[in-house]
Amino acid sequence: MPSSPIEAQRMPAFEDGYHQANCSSKVMHYPTRDSAIGETMKVLHVVGARPNFMKVAPVRAALAERQGVHQVLVHTGQHYDAFMSDIFFRQLDIPEPNFNLGVGSGSHAQQTAEIMMRMEPVILETKPDIVLVYGDVNSTVAAALVCSKLLIPIGHVEAGLRSFDRTMPEEINRVLTDRVADLLFTPSADGDENLLREGVAPEKIHLVGNVMIDTLIRLLPHAGNNALAEKSYVLVTLHRPSNVDDSIELTKILEALNEIASGMDVIFPIHPRTRHMMREMNNVSLTPRLRLIEPVGYVEFLGLQRNAALVITDSGGIQEESTYLGVPCLTVRENTERPITVSLGTNLLVGRDMQKLKAETQKILSGKAKTGTIPPLWDGYAGRRIADVLVSKVLI
Ligand code: UD1
Ligand code: UDP
Repeated sequence: MPSSPIEAQRMPAFEDGYHQANCSSKVMHYPTRDSAIGETMKVLHVVGARPNFMKVAPVRAALAERQGVHQVLVHTGQHYDAFMSDIFFRQLDIPEPNFNLGVGSGSHAQQTAEIMMRMEPVILETKPDIVLVYGDVNSTVAAALVCSKLLIPIGHVEAGLRSFDRTMPEEINRVLTDRVADLLFTPSADGDENLLREGVAPEKIHLVGNVMIDTLIRLLPHAGNNALAEKSYVLVTLHRPSNVDDSIELTKILEALNEIASGMDVIFPIHPRTRHMMREMNNVSLTPRLRLIEPVGYVEFLGLQRNAALVITDSGGIQEESTYLGVPCLTVRENTERPITVSLGTNLLVGRDMQKLKAETQKILSGKAKTGTIPPLWDGYAGRRIADVLVSKVLI
């Protein structure tokens, strides 16, 4: 955790020179609407971790096409490595954030509390009409809690997803964020059902489709071409604490991947959480065909994903992307908050049963992969649907 006094690090303004005051040393109170620039709705987006960037990009772009919408972007700094953050701003055409809170890493309580403390003055200063939070990371719930206490309306993009597994930190973040959100934008009908069952008023729920797929559709023509032949390799990502924070569990997974790599290249871009654990482990000898690489940019990863014979992952977003691409996906988890990727898509849960992982891998590689269809509203227009709702509900 940075030890300096809480001070929001100001990034250059990207739209109209709106930010001139220092938000951290002195809280400035602006009028909610600035008649000088003719705005009628101020939307503040909060992002912090890798999967947030793919989600904010299409919503921000759709709102930029609307008259009278002024946007402010806040990066909490939860992810900060160049290949976990900066690269996505460049590749996805997201402008530099107006504020970077620079929170960095820490325990759940430290990180969440630090984000809340640094976020509050930014919200007080900018007085948004609505704050949009994305997904299920600590930045999401921290921002939502701050706004709910300041009586600022909250829109949750990717609302309603449930794994029903409270041992997952993300499940706590999802449930709490949805509880305090005023507009809940769901990617699939199961999200609506979950929210209705939890007592959320139907008029707050908007089935808009999947913003992650908006970004995929936009950037697929630019997806990287890797040197490997199509379907000649398996692509792996792992970062769930339940898989990688325990060296025994991670060793079991690496041994299974090692076996798979005896017959085929396995490309494994390593998430920083996983890298930390692997540095501490020295009892696993890996075959050269298990190719450990640094995390890659979005278009590079999309290229790797599109051409893979199979994806093995525990990522939420990659379960969705592989379903859209029609690439077989084996998910190393006991449950998923994205059941539609199993019921309609190419995803199959193998849990942490490594025999099952190896058996299902062989099945896929021998041409017996499950096929799937693309879920409804995963069509590239989710961001626009969100903008429609915001303009009709918030813009006055
Ligand atoms: C976070 C999210 C998770 C999401 C994932 C996406 C929470 C609770 N978890 O998990 O839901 O799926 O992001 O990737 O919000 N680190 C670096 N450099 C970075 C970022 C992190 O080295 O740029 C290392 C630090 O040692 C840190 C660890 O990775 O302690 C974990 O980072 P953190 O943001 O706490 O959780 P993730 O595992 O990344
Ligand atoms: N991704 C990427 N580079 C990588 C690994 C993943 O660009 O090396 C992208 C991937 O295509 C997807 C997103 O990161 O868009 C998923 O993020 P992550 O798996 O970190 O988080 P989750 O979706 O599990 O919350």
